[in-house]
Amino acid sequence: MFWSKYFIPTLKETPVGTEAVSHQLSLRAGLVNMLTSGVYSYLPLGLRVLKRIEAIIREEMNAAGAHELFLPVLQPIELWKTTGRDKTLAEIMITFEDKKGRTLCLGPTHEEVITDLVKNYVQSYRQLPVTLYQIQTKFRDELRTRYGIVRACEFIMKDAYSFDRDIEGLKKNYQLMYDAYVRIFKRCGLNVIIAEADSGAMGGDVSHEFLVPAAIGEDAVVKCLSCDFGGAVKSNQAQGDACPKCKSGKLAKQVAIELGHVFQLGLKYSSAQQALFLDEDGKQKPIVMGCYGIGVSRLIAAVIETNNDANGIIWPKEVAPFDVEILPLQVSDQESLELTKQYYRDLEKAGFSVLIDDRDESAGRKFNDADLIGIPFRITIGKRTLKEGKVEVKNRRTGETLTIAKDEAIKQLIASLRN
Ligand SMILES: Nc1ncnc2c1ncn2[C@@H]1O[C@H](COP(=O)(O)OP(=O)(O)OP(=O)(O)O)[C@@H](O)[C@H]1O
Ligand SMILES: [Mg+2]
Ligand SMILES: [Zn+2]
Repeated sequence: MFWSKYFIPTLKETPVGTEAVSHQLSLRAGLVNMLTSGVYSYLPLGLRVLKRIEAIIREEMNAAGAHELFLPVLQPIELWKTTGRDKTLAEIMITFEDKKGRTLCLGPTHEEVITDLVKNYVQSYRQLPVTLYQIQTKFRDELRTRYGIVRACEFIMKDAYSFDRDIEGLKKNYQLMYDAYVRIFKRCGLNVIIAEADSGAMGGDVSHEFLVPAAIGEDAVVKCLSCDFGGAVKSNQAQGDACPKCKSGKLAKQVAIELGHVFQLGLKYSSAQQALFLDEDGKQKPIVMGCYGIGVSRLIAAVIETNNDANGIIWPKEVAPFDVEILPLQVSDQESLELTKQYYRDLEKAGFSVLIDDRDESAGRKFNDADLIGIPFRITIGKRTLKEGKVEVKNRRTGETLTIAKDEAIKQLIASLRN
């Protein structure tokens, strides 16, 4: 991809009215654009990141045996009345009347819709278990939209739902999703804390939240300074207490962003919506359900929030919009251009994506933009170093810059990209 023909509207200044680093950088790097409060467009670079995160999620969901489908955004309010959530979620639900006089809502979540769907197809224990998921836009009339895409009114969620005969089956599926979540967040370069959520009003239902410590977090967590222990703050825990796991480490209290939530729903929806199946013993029973959500668009913000420096974003390898940026300093120099194109072909052939900053801009401007958009590796091709047969390769994360023989550069770079 050539930058001069692409659409990356970077901004030099920090936009006014933005507090969160991730909000500032996602605007400055040309990833997203605000249409109105809580409503965002994804620009080409932001969309590339989104697609890579979605690909990781799909891979892990499919590997865990879940099947992708796509449910409607438009949902009849009658469906929500069957569970009473037309009232309990009224505050955040966006509802309206269509020209035929139907009251519809824009789905804030999909438990009712999927339960309704599954109940129409599943009659026998032989059809269970099944886990279904989608990656979909959700709509919530959030009272306080905050930090850009962290809390928006229109956002992207991966939501999965499991359907089982019994609690044992649910527990197995729950564990599969839990393990998939651990892998997803790790691959996205995030160090999550998993907090057991209170069973609360549901009574006995198990639930875990996946959180990332960050200054803009809204949930309190504790983290051990010595081992990998972390969790929700228990009422008797204080800063500096001994770690319950390793015993020697001290606990630090932090705030964290919620990125994912897994929940053993049990019979809540299947009972209310009469989603029943005929079991092996000839008895009709409600299906045992679980639900599993990840805030996909919020995840982008969390990655930026935890991977940046004063100069910009530092993308983890697996979610970066491009793997390598090639930066020819003199775009009219024939030799530089030929080498750029050769590198581009070699890298693409090896399966890596490349952005070429071919703009006729000052070196300073191009370096600043490269740091801002945060591609993991940058190759700088300059006339002077090229005379000595060399190019520069910079690692965005470590800041390490190596001057390498031009014929060796790609081989070395591919090795770094692969490890
Ligand atoms: N307004 C929002 N904007 C962006 N992402 C969101 C928003 N609300 C929820 N999410 C994401 O969707 C995931 C699953 O949704 P869920 O209904 O469990 O969220 P929630 O408990 O309402 O989250 P929160 O407490 O942050 O409002 C959350 O873990 C979060 O990552
Ligand atoms: Mg909420
Ligand atoms: Zn510890």
